[in-house]
Amino acid sequence: MSISQGIHDYSRGYATQLDDEDPLKQLRKEFIIPTKADLKSKKLTSPAASNSESGDQNCIYFCGNSLGLQPRRTSERITSHLTSWAKKGVYGHFKEHVDSPLPPYLHVDDVAAELMAPLVGALPEEVAVMQTLTANLHLMMASFYRPTRSKYKIILEGKAFPSDHYAVESQIRHHGIDPQDAMVLIEPEIPGSATISTSHILSTITKNASSTALIILPGVQYYTGQYLDIERITAHAHSLDLIIGWDLAHAVGNVPVQLHAWQVDFAAWCNYKYVNSGPGAIGGLFVHSKHGQVDLSAATDGKVGFRPRLSGWWGGDKAIRFEMGNKFVPIPGAAGFQLSNPSALDTTAVIASLEIFKLTTMGELREKSVALTKYLEDLLLHMPFAENRKEDGLPYRIITPSNTAERGAQLSLLLKPGLLEGVMQILEEAGVVVDERRPDVIRVAPAPLYNTFAEVWDFVHIFIDACFKVESGPRKGDQEVIALQGQDAQGWGQIK
Ligand SMILES: Cc1ncc(COP(=O)(O)O)c(C=O)c1O
Repeated sequence: MSISQGIHDYSRGYATQLDDEDPLKQLRKEFIIPTKADLKSKKLTSPAASNSESGDQNCIYFCGNSLGLQPRRTSERITSHLTSWAKKGVYGHFKEHVDSPLPPYLHVDDVAAELMAPLVGALPEEVAVMQTLTANLHLMMASFYRPTRSKYKIILEGKAFPSDHYAVESQIRHHGIDPQDAMVLIEPEIPGSATISTSHILSTITKNASSTALIILPGVQYYTGQYLDIERITAHAHSLDLIIGWDLAHAVGNVPVQLHAWQVDFAAWCNYKYVNSGPGAIGGLFVHSKHGQVDLSAATDGKVGFRPRLSGWWGGDKAIRFEMGNKFVPIPGAAGFQLSNPSALDTTAVIASLEIFKLTTMGELREKSVALTKYLEDLLLHMPFAENRKEDGLPYRIITPSNTAERGAQLSLLLKPGLLEGVMQILEEAGVVVDERRPDVIRVAPAPLYNTFAEVWDFVHIFIDACFKVESGPRKGDQEVIALQGQDAQGWGQIK
């Protein structure tokens, strides 16, 4: 896939050639791709089984940044799990079965953590597959946010995913502190721009260091798709003696992070996006080994010999867990932050999707992802099909950084005001799945595990055609949308 220098051939044949040369092309077969008919049908059972088994055309699914597609093996693994529960009941907790691919329920969390660790560049003991993203952020803040009278602020971005904002705000309130004073929101240095430069992040951290207790930032920003320089920002925070945690919702399974080597203090993520474990799947947690140590001999003077945390029995030493004692001795590492026995059903879905990552590496996936997204960008900006039709420039612009090192799979397209609704309608009718962030942004994320270059080519044709169609004739609802936005229909939408 040698398109890093830009493309010179805009034919569809070139796209299919890139697919033929793709060393990861077999991985698409691991997934159930909904057909266009599946998406349109009001029933789940009709009109045909997914994945063109009946000759139905597949949809173009570029929404793995929101909900990844279902791996074929998920239903097999879940069926195995249900069979073991049906046939073995409580014995399923402890007993291995020679014909089952799954561990006893008691160990599903360990197996999931082991499979997860390579995705985030961690040691297996630094990872726990547990809870959900927002819950894990709270658990991490309960342990890592220890405000004092002089150091009590949390630095986050002004456009953080709302759940992160609420979690931080509520943690601050929980300590009896005023969030107005304690939340430092990093905004883009150029008003109206979408992305934030590393230098601006570093200088905001420096400026607030003396009163800051914690920093929480996104690995990949959900709205713009900007991939932050985790290594550099983490090193800067540490040089000022600050703890830093990362929300990796849009980074895990997307970009090859190295959490251990980069000395990240903690991170949390969900597994329903690029990891493909299903809606609301169990999430993930990273705690660097330096914070996960347990040394009971150090338990003196009111100290417990491990990092303080909110605790539950599943975080306790497995060897004594069933002795039902009252002395909490955590498992060293991230597993010691678990609370409850995890749902084996849900963890099984995470294991099934992680098995697919074992068929490749994050490095190989990243290579394909960079090529796919660069191809998407090149077509969007230079496709002759668009060039021939644009008079006043393209009716969209890409707000994701153009530097491939500063983005993952996703490109965020800012449409001219008033186009979004009509364009989304046409895309839906054409069986193209992307997501919208109102008022004017469409997020497009070709996932290297299951998307193809030909899909990118088809998408760009359909999308550009839709933009010009909607631009040249007002469709129902456009006027209301423009009025709602209170914007000049000639101008570009503001980043909100
Ligand atoms: C960046 C980011 N943070 C937090 C969340 C909230 O995740 P959850 O509902 O799993 O807690 C999401 C959900 O999409 C997200 O994208």
